[in-house]
Amino acid sequence: MTLQEYENEILKLKKERNAIILAHYYQESPIQDLADFVGDSLELSRKAASTTADVIVFCGVHFMAETAKILNPHKPVLLPDLLAGCSLSDGTPPAQFKKFREEHPDHLAITYINCSAEVKALSDIICTSSNAEKIVSQIPKDQKILFSPDKNLGAFINKKTGRNMTLWNGSCIVHETFSERKLIGLQLEHPDAELIAHPECEDHILARAEFIGSTSMLLKYVQTSPKQKFIVGTEYGIVHQMEKSTTGKTFLPLPPEANCACNECPHMKRNTLEKLYLCMKNMHPQIEMSAELLERARKPIDRMLAMS
Ligand code: 13P
Ligand code: SF4
Repeated sequence: MTLQEYENEILKLKKERNAIILAHYYQESPIQDLADFVGDSLELSRKAASTTADVIVFCGVHFMAETAKILNPHKPVLLPDLLAGCSLSDGTPPAQFKKFREEHPDHLAITYINCSAEVKALSDIICTSSNAEKIVSQIPKDQKILFSPDKNLGAFINKKTGRNMTLWNGSCIVHETFSERKLIGLQLEHPDAELIAHPECEDHILARAEFIGSTSMLLKYVQTSPKQKFIVGTEYGIVHQMEKSTTGKTFLPLPPEANCACNECPHMKRNTLEKLYLCMKNMHPQIEMSAELLERARKPIDRMLAMS
């Protein structure tokens, strides 16, 4: 089928099934263009919590679709490729996380949404990159906190809030590849460009950024900034919306150290238009989990939604 034929079929199926297509900014551009809503993790969770559609089609990675299912236990939640994982989630096995908690019995566990449902169920409060600071700030100063799984986001929030949260040793394979050496070269070549970065980047990159925020916050920043040129320190898929919603602005990808396409999330890019079409046609693959896990994982997500 041609691109146009896939798009037509997907829109037809969307109507027939009364489905909503939710997409993250790191999805390939044709998927973002077809989606009913494109957003960051927090916005996608809120949208999943409020939708009246009968079927949720989630174009993102597994933990995001799982969150949509936890918020909609009675609705089918489709994910075009069930193997669309995340290095942060995959690097946090529930048994090891449970042990981590047991080793720190007096700590509250605030956990980044990039984790499995099992890890969510073992956590006290979930957060995303756009509400982590707000959530941590609401916790009494004398309460010790475990922050998992992203050590870079955790260190960034420690700095912002003056806390000393104990961090799980996890990181994102995309955001940790950015090269400070190449960044400096790019800044010399483009002295008028501003670096904007996602808090999953390492500290030496964040230290050079004009603005740090979630994907949606980065998008809003370039839309409202009087600057014309930006070096984008996050997965390059976000540039599609940046280019669509601004005129005459230039977006330069922050290069990884190796000569590779490592600033593309290989998990996010597992979803394709063809797989999106097939999952809507076959109503498969779907996110499945036990009622017991759904219930346990929901509590810390509800706490996040109430606090943010
Ligand atoms: P956002 O919530 O900022 O969209 O981040 C999600 C993510 O996976 C970043 O790598
Ligand atoms: Fe996970 Fe990193 Fe991909 Fe985001 S970019 S989904 S944190 S692997």
